[in-house]
Amino acid sequence: MSAGLAVLVSGSGSNLQSLLDAQKADALAGAKIVLVLSDNPKSYALTRAEQAGVQALVIRPKDYATRADWERAVGDALDAARVDWVLLAGFLRIFSGDFVRRFAGRILNIHPSLLPKYGGEGFYGLKVHEAVLAGNEKESGASVHFVTEGCDEGPVILQEKVAVYPEDTPEQLQQRVLKIEHKLYPKAVRELLKGSK
Ligand code: GAR
Repeated sequence: MSAGLAVLVSGSGSNLQSLLDAQKADALAGAKIVLVLSDNPKSYALTRAEQAGVQALVIRPKDYATRADWERAVGDALDAARVDWVLLAGFLRIFSGDFVRRFAGRILNIHPSLLPKYGGEGFYGLKVHEAVLAGNEKESGASVHFVTEGCDEGPVILQEKVAVYPEDTPEQLQQRVLKIEHKLYPKAVRELLKGSK
């Protein structure tokens, strides 16, 4: 049986697109994206899922009395879809220990820096690239890692570097990093599922 993947998104979903494209090109070790789940009904990733014919769900925290109730609903949706792996791809919520333990060792995330640098709470999206530029770094990159209870602290599966130029804007650096993210996430999933990682 092929592995079932869920991709959790909040925004544009360009990483989701790279995973959908890899699946289509038979470059995802036979895995199948069975569910796209967003906390944000305005996420363009939902349109990408729809265009690819993948089930898409919106589960908004504000529709639940507590964060624990919301997380339980997310977890139940993942189980109902018989998901083996949970891939966070621009998903901007941080899960509690309870959720991480429920899917222990089966949650991956992509982060737009060379972890452990520029990771942790508050480091997401453009803020990461702003901090890298403020830190006068000569290189940055992307990391795919296992999700554990500490934010952005789980073991790294794959990393790739890009150059940082003094004249870069955060947006330019973001685009350079995104370009490698789009190769890195499918590659990490492929290698993990083939057992070479
Ligand atoms: C990506 O750069 C991803 O690494 C980052 O958000 C962007 C989502 O883009 N994730 C984080 O910053 C997580 N801390 P996308 O919606 O186009 O895939």
